[in-house]
Amino acid sequence: MTATAAPQLKHEVKDLALAPLGNQRIEWAGREMPVLKQIRDRFAKEKPFEGIRIVACCHVTTETAHLAIALKAGGADSILIASNPLSTQDDVAACLVADYGIPVFAIKGEDSETYNRHVQIALDHRPNIIIDDGSDVVATLVKERKEQLSDIIGTTEETTTGIVRLRAMLNDGVLSFPAMNVNDADTKHFFDNRYGTGQSTLDGIIRATNVLLAGKTTVVAGYGWCGKGTAMRARGLGANVIVTEIDPIKAIEAVMDGFRVMPMAEAAPLADLFITVTGNKHVIRPEHFEVMKDGAIVCNSGHFDIEIDLKSLGAKASEVKDVRPFTQQYKLPSGKSVVVLGEGRLINLAAAEGHPSAVMDMSFANQALGCEYLVKNTGKLEPGLYSIPAEVDKDIARLKLQAMGIQIDTLTAEQVEYINSWTSGT
Ligand code: ADE
Repeated sequence: MTATAAPQLKHEVKDLALAPLGNQRIEWAGREMPVLKQIRDRFAKEKPFEGIRIVACCHVTTETAHLAIALKAGGADSILIASNPLSTQDDVAACLVADYGIPVFAIKGEDSETYNRHVQIALDHRPNIIIDDGSDVVATLVKERKEQLSDIIGTTEETTTGIVRLRAMLNDGVLSFPAMNVNDADTKHFFDNRYGTGQSTLDGIIRATNVLLAGKTTVVAGYGWCGKGTAMRARGLGANVIVTEIDPIKAIEAVMDGFRVMPMAEAAPLADLFITVTGNKHVIRPEHFEVMKDGAIVCNSGHFDIEIDLKSLGAKASEVKDVRPFTQQYKLPSGKSVVVLGEGRLINLAAAEGHPSAVMDMSFANQALGCEYLVKNTGKLEPGLYSIPAEVDKDIARLKLQAMGIQIDTLTAEQVEYINSWTSGT
């Protein structure tokens, strides 16, 4: 680990010597991120973030590197920390420090104490804008740094879990600044949550275990956008998918999408593989572990490592053994074993590389434009959750289509008149 070694640039990354590999991989990711590239080029000319301090708390990946570089091009004084102890790509962290002069505090496998210390370092930067993924920085600011609230222009939130936390802060009357809801932009969740999580979750499971998905009974817990994508891609690989849900509407949707739906207690003895994507706590509990098949594989692709009750499993286990990287076997007193991937942390970033660049291109375009919107509207927005403006969302989609070389129709004058009138009917 190198700590604060580069002149005048504070950082905490695994090894600066990894920078050339990071550079190569960041360049590769850029091939699939044309929308963010256009935004970065405009930022470089217009400098919307001159004099603005930004903290980005994100998964430190090749895609996040492009966001950080775009913010820097726009004049931001920014610092990047990890939004999860297991998701950092150490080569990317090294490259951002060594080649781009961006302070990064993130090491793959960092313990909770280090993770929380990095959150404090980020707040010491006295941010005006916080880009959060899961709302840990905002929650810490609100709890522990009230004297800094007046510095804040606003926050942008990347993920469903963070939006749920921000809503709870609003309900408790403790959120005193505007928050851009990046997660709910159409060009974010339709693609990132569905196709991104769908592909990268399966990618993580396969890289960790090398198991064949075809013929495996697979439980997907949660049928939000991430669950839909995960179930769809698991079926595509030949898995026999069962969905568990608590929401009756999502449950019907899963049934009509052709999946079996049942409670976890019924699914637990049937499945070979379990994937949680609910955003809630202890979705898989001791009573489920007890009835699972010998060797059942359990993993999580939701934001926090709370969906699987690993504490209870650990307390019961007579032995916990590393059997492959990111793969641990828990031996139970019954003689059966349960295999846990990525310590219950999001498997797509722990064992694979997270969502592919092509979807993060749109997610991070929303982040970049959300930050710009906050700056342009400094002092004008009441505390609350704000959608990314529909025109911005559509512009991102138009740019993406353009970059993909796909053209679409436009309304004729007759069609415009028709959809704006109520007079003609049957
Ligand atoms: N969240 C999920 N995948 C990601 C990625 N590749 N980069 C940053 N954040 C992510």
